Amino acid sequence: MVHTVTLIPGDGIGPGITEAVLQVLDAVNAPIEWDRQLAGLAARDAGHDLLPQETLDSIERNRYALKGPLTTPVGAGFRSINVALRKHFDLFANVRPARTVVPGGRYEDIDLVIVRENTEGLYAGIEHYIGMRNDPKAVAESVMLITRYGSERIVRHAFDYAVEHGRKKVTLVHKANILKCTQGLFLDVGREVARHYRDAIEFEERIVDATAMALVLDPYQFDVIVTENMFGDILSDQAAGLVGGLGFAPGANIGKDTAIFEAVHGSAPDIAGRNVANPCGLLLAACLMLDHLGLSERAERIWRAMRRTVIAGETVTPDLGGTAGTDEFAAAIAANLD
Ligand code: NAI
Repeated sequence: MVHTVTLIPGDGIGPGITEAVLQVLDAVNAPIEWDRQLAGLAARDAGHDLLPQETLDSIERNRYALKGPLTTPVGAGFRSINVALRKHFDLFANVRPARTVVPGGRYEDIDLVIVRENTEGLYAGIEHYIGMRNDPKAVAESVMLITRYGSERIVRHAFDYAVEHGRKKVTLVHKANILKCTQGLFLDVGREVARHYRDAIEFEERIVDATAMALVLDPYQFDVIVTENMFGDILSDQAAGLVGGLGFAPGANIGKDTAIFEAVHGSAPDIAGRNVANPCGLLLAACLMLDHLGLSERAERIWRAMRRTVIAGETVTPDLGGTAGTDEFAAAIAANLD
């Protein structure tokens, strides 16, 4: 079966790392037909909106998209094109695996996953200023929005992910000791959901600050972490730091019917067009997508080849201490496939 997937090469280093990823996917004969679409500056330069309707229709139709980083022009109406995409398709789950690629770091063989709620919390952006006397910005106020519906679907997603991927434990991370209503609701709902899975998956609950410390002291105690939007944002970057940095950080944004896979890093305008960008973040995102499409074996082959190439250290990009171009790095990964 051939899957049709929307491909958005993106801006800056996006087109270069996208071509590198396609090279590796071709080498494993991934049964994917690409429906190429524009977004971001690339769309604007071609005379379209930043997020063209055609692109939205394509994702709607194909249900899966692999996306390069998009530059959000300053002051262009959107707060962020990425946020607009998440909102449009109600991509409520941000799944960020952190798995050690580069050996010799502080820890070996970390393998954990952070499932972050992607639509609620403080990042819902419900905020305003309150003026006092002559100061229009005397006070700024923000609302942490947590719903039973949103909490239930994200915690369920984390447990279902754990079951499907043979994981053993889900840790719910919260701050209910201080934020009794918002975080309390998230925790209450989490406990209810966890009961349905108690025969299959261990459940634990932890406070966010203690979790941040525990992640650094002993990351092996974690398997799947589920948390609200802002805590997930912070903890997932922390976890990425434990396994080799943002160059190796992929993310899946998942909704009920649609999923968009991308690298965590941005369009890196400072190195765009120089063939030096590390393609591994987007390659790992493609692996997450293969996994979703039921092509896990190909994803694992790519993972092993990438790790071999990185460990050999001869044909890697400058951020990993090498001198290879993006395309040479991808060719080396393809050559290292088993
Ligand atoms: P960035 O992640 O693009 O760059 C930060 C630093 O990391 C830069 O020094 C860059 O050269 C380096 N870097 C990033 N990816 C790299 C790679 N694959 N290989 C080697 N080095 C890499 O973050 P920045 O500069 O804050 O954002 C630039 C643009 O990207 C902004 O317009 C921002 O809105 C956008 N952005 C888009 C994202 C997305 O589409 N998902 C995510 C984050 C930022």
